[in-house]
Amino acid sequence: MAILRIPDQQREITDASEICNFLAPFGIWYESWDVAGRIGDDASNEEILAAYEPEINRLKERGGFVTADVINVSPETPNLDAMLEKFSKEHTHSEDEVRFTVKGSGVFHIHPDGGPVLGIQIGAGDLINVPAGVQHWFNLCGDRTIRCIRLFQDPAGWVAHYVGDGIHGNYEPVCLGPNFLPPKDGPDIDSVIKP
Ligand SMILES: [Fe+2]
Repeated sequence: MAILRIPDQQREITDASEICNFLAPFGIWYESWDVAGRIGDDASNEEILAAYEPEINRLKERGGFVTADVINVSPETPNLDAMLEKFSKEHTHSEDEVRFTVKGSGVFHIHPDGGPVLGIQIGAGDLINVPAGVQHWFNLCGDRTIRCIRLFQDPAGWVAHYVGDGIHGNYEPVCLGPNFLPPKDGPDIDSVIKP
C-alpha cells in the first residue's frame, strides 16, 4: 500500500482513494491491485504478465501502450549500484513511466511543473505512472528489491533525459511501514539507496 508524502508541506496521505484523488490533477494514476492469491512467490515473468493481462490490456487502451514486460531488481543484480545511480537523479522521459509492483518497495519523487515535490512510496500491489516529460527520480528501499510490470509506448522511450540542476539531493527517500522494513541485519530503516 502506497504512502504519499509532500515534504515541503509536512503532509502525509495513506488512504488509497485520497492518494488517487490527490495525484489525478497532476496526471498521475494511482491504483491498488490484488497481489495475494494472484501470483505465487516464484511466479515467472510470463506468469505475472498472464495473471494481470486484463489490467495490462485496460492500461494499454488508456495510454496507448504496445508492450509490457517485467523488470527484476535484487541485491544480486549485476551492476546494481550503477543502475540505481541512473534512477536516482532527476530526469524525464518522452513517454509515461508506468510501473505495477508485485514485490519489493521504493520511493518515486515526482516534481510537477508548478507543483510541490511528491514522494510516493510504493510496494506490492501499487500501480503508478509518471507522465511523459514530468521530472522525477526513484530510490529503492532498504531491501534493494523490486519486481515490476512495465508498459511501453515505445521501449526506446525509457531513455532518461537528465535535469542538469536536479533537486534530488534535497529530498530524503525515507521508507517507512511494516512492508518497508529493511531485511534483518540490514541497514537502518532510513538507510535507503541514495543518489
Ligand atoms: Fe524515470
